[in-house]
Amino acid sequence: MDRIAIMGGARLQGEIPISGAKNSAIKLMAASLLTDEPLRLTNMPRLADTRFLGRLLQRLGTEVVESAGPDGAETLLTTREIMSGFAPYDLVRQMRASFNVLGPLLARTGQAKVSLPGGCTIGARPVDLHLKALEALGARIDLHEGYVYAQAPGGLRGGEIEFPFVSVGATEHALLAAVLARGATVLRNSAQEPEITDLADCLNKMGAKVEGAGTATIRVQGVERLTGASHAVLPDRIETGTYALAAAMAGGEVRLTRTRSDFIEALIVKMREAGVEVTPHPDGLTVKRNGGRLKAVELETDPFPGFATDLQAQFMALMTLADGESVIRETIFENRFMHAPELGRLGADISVHGGEARVRGVETLEGAQVMATDLRASVSLVIAGLAARGETVVNRVYHLDRGFERLEEKLGACGADIRRIKGDAGEDD
Ligand code: EPZ
Repeated sequence: MDRIAIMGGARLQGEIPISGAKNSAIKLMAASLLTDEPLRLTNMPRLADTRFLGRLLQRLGTEVVESAGPDGAETLLTTREIMSGFAPYDLVRQMRASFNVLGPLLARTGQAKVSLPGGCTIGARPVDLHLKALEALGARIDLHEGYVYAQAPGGLRGGEIEFPFVSVGATEHALLAAVLARGATVLRNSAQEPEITDLADCLNKMGAKVEGAGTATIRVQGVERLTGASHAVLPDRIETGTYALAAAMAGGEVRLTRTRSDFIEALIVKMREAGVEVTPHPDGLTVKRNGGRLKAVELETDPFPGFATDLQAQFMALMTLADGESVIRETIFENRFMHAPELGRLGADISVHGGEARVRGVETLEGAQVMATDLRASVSLVIAGLAARGETVVNRVYHLDRGFERLEEKLGACGADIRRIKGDAGEDD
């Protein structure tokens, strides 16, 4: 398997264009199941996860055509007919978001059989809220041998759904089903992440009637059919925040373009508190740090607009070199500190108790072999490697490839000494 090697110590200088958001793209792709007309998605990130969902959609009957467009990569998805309503375990297990095909399949054909995704390294991640939402829309759900058998023979109907706590996936799933349900649906205590608004915008272009996305209450008036549309995927706020933190860690000045600073306001507040200079501009933001030790800060992850759990590992990497003790509380996932012991291999001083990590800043990190078990944890090790003395080798790079497009190229263009070491196929890491 491939590895990434980083020789620490180079300051970053230059510009990084941000790609379309992975976590928006994969939900938008699933929306193509709702219409027999072509859905054209532009500003598409080319990632293992989008390729993976493309393969699942092809199995369900979608024609997937990728091309290079004037505004970044494009994907044209056409599902003239649903050929199969079956999403098997081996496909859903590999990428949890595949589970979100259940709602659109049910809405379009009245039935589906989709594997339960199971837990993953960052937590148990149940899908009970997804299933309750679909039931509130009239679906009959049965669970057998790890599969969800869902039926709505007369079609879905509108309903009232109040989420007991905020869930991005369940809000998106309910939206994907409600747009074709008969009558009105109200979603309360909805997630407010920008990816929800992006999905609602795309669905509205397809002829759906969705109001209030981006707030806690979303109202949907069901329509009989949706049409094709063209939609540009919004910029990836997690990629934006990750490179902002990489620049802060390595020092120097990096301009992040084709993105939006208002998506990462909670991060910017914490970066400034830590002593990093952040200047928003219409096309993104510039991050600057010249010498001077970082200050330790306290933070807690929360649903949007709070501090994103998907940036927690990267911020922890930054705090390993801060002056003082930082306290980081993870409130979204119960097991999302797997990067802490790996950062420890680089010399970081971190103790974890339940959902709280205490990071006592050290003067220097030292390069080592490291490995992580999820995407954001892996990239936090790359960030740490940028500032560590000597060489850091990050194993299991396939995690990075799931969510970061051309990572080595983007960092390398700003002066980072980073390269991919190709591994043999089948070689164990
Ligand atoms: C999305 O996951 C993202 N994934 C995650 O990014 C992100 O960390 C998360 O939202 C929070 O922002 C995608 O968009 C593909 P949730 P999702 O439902 O939708 C619990 C990355 O690195 N819960 O908001 O699965 C759940 O276990 C990934 O790109 C239930 O209990 O997150 C968690 O504790 C990692 N029952 C909490 O809610 C349910 O039915 C929030 O999860 C659903 C969720």
